[in-house]
Amino acid sequence: MVNPTEPIIIIGAGVFGLSTAYELSSRGYKNITVLDRFLPPVPDGSSVDISRIIRMEYADPVYHQMAQEAMQGWKTSFKDYYHHSGFAILSETSSNPYIEKILQITEAQGGSLDASPNANSLKKMYPDIRADYSALNAYHNSDGGWADAEGSIRHLANLCKINGVSFITGKRGTVQTLQKEGGRVNGVNVLSGEFLPTSKVILAAGAWSNLLLDMSYAASASGQPVGFIQLTPEEASNLQRIPVMINLTSGIFAFPPQPGTNILKVARHSYGFGTAIKSDDGGRIVSSPKRDSNNANQSFLPEEADQALRDGLRQLLPEFANHPWSSLRLCWYTDTPEGDFIIDHHPTLKGLFLATGGAGHAFKFLPVLGRYIADCFEHRASAALRQKWRLRLPDSKKEVKIGDGSRAGPAFRILSPEEQSKL
Ligand SMILES: *[C@@H]1O[C@H](CO)[C@@H](O)[C@H](O)[C@H]1NC(C)=O
Ligand SMILES: *[C@@H]1O[C@H](CO)[C@@H](O)[C@H](O)[C@H]1NC(C)=O
Ligand SMILES: *[C@@H]1O[C@H](CO)[C@@H](O)[C@H](O)[C@H]1NC(C)=O
Repeated sequence: MVNPTEPIIIIGAGVFGLSTAYELSSRGYKNITVLDRFLPPVPDGSSVDISRIIRMEYADPVYHQMAQEAMQGWKTSFKDYYHHSGFAILSETSSNPYIEKILQITEAQGGSLDASPNANSLKKMYPDIRADYSALNAYHNSDGGWADAEGSIRHLANLCKINGVSFITGKRGTVQTLQKEGGRVNGVNVLSGEFLPTSKVILAAGAWSNLLLDMSYAASASGQPVGFIQLTPEEASNLQRIPVMINLTSGIFAFPPQPGTNILKVARHSYGFGTAIKSDDGGRIVSSPKRDSNNANQSFLPEEADQALRDGLRQLLPEFANHPWSSLRLCWYTDTPEGDFIIDHHPTLKGLFLATGGAGHAFKFLPVLGRYIADCFEHRASAALRQKWRLRLPDSKKEVKIGDGSRAGPAFRILSPEEQSKL
């Protein structure tokens, strides 16, 4: 057990790091420091921008249960950041194995999902849908919607500050390497040149985790395209009554415009893009966003991803297909073989705990994630959960592949050096 007065360093101020910091500080841990390159909301992190899908549909019973618990949190303590717009899955086929499992589990748990062989039926509830969806099946849940990612992360960071959590950012908050001695991690070396000693390091660096620990066989970063369009107030008000929609055949999804800013967001849940960059601990080549600059600063997307978002928009919301992007970015998933998180004491290195591997679906759990992570940290979680979220050791299977069956779109591709220079 960790003594509550001993220092804990958490690397990463995204949803994993902050929810852990908040929960551990609430449980009486007194010396917690969160390190990140930027203050949260971290501008190129995966816990930012205007929206994240909050859905309850899961083909996996553990996440299904967590999603129900999280929804309670979104409707109470985080209600200022939650928009209950409804959620619809569209699919060209009715025999998608992912959807079938979702239907089974939803029913087994006493819930229900409206299934319709003609997605135009959504228009009864959502009159601002104007395109023809008749070739698609729809699975709809009015109990779902989206969260203001940046707003809820800012709120969570404030809760951490109120609990006495310290934050270090900039060069002093940018970890270069973990310091190891005698089979134990005893601190971190940061970009300012200092060594910060600690009793426990919690690695919650998301897509950047591989730069600090050789775990590319267990988790790998993939950038997923996101586009934003500035609507006029009139355009936005004519688009309020749509649900969050994902076309499961293309992976493209879209949100209702954000109230206040009138920004429309469209993105793709797919296999994504990788990079090839060198780590500071011996020059391993890993897929990771850049460490020392803001990866969202140049508003860059690979050409074909830009085109795919356009095409997706033309199909889902054709009236906006030719509106210019106000900005673009890659959102960095930390993919794992079955889409399971990695929340575990490192099996061989003492002093190191991991809370990462969001696999593109962790954000919705913000209200409850810290509790699950802290239970694993304190060895209180069930054996089944600890097994599910364990850090695997390397085995013969070199390649990490990817996700829980919900992805669509083209295969994973490593960006060219020229493309990478634009991040
Ligand atoms: C927290 O831990 C650090 C690192 O060991 C130490 O320098 C600092 O004095 C501790 N702070 C408190 C309030 O105990
Ligand atoms: C963002 O880009 C501008 C201009 O390209 C540059 O001056 C600035 O330092 C960048 N900011 C970050 C945080 O990388
Ligand atoms: C869904 O995606 C498929 C495959 O790209 C496409 O053929 C279809 O038109 C899309 N439908 C909608 C409404 O987005």
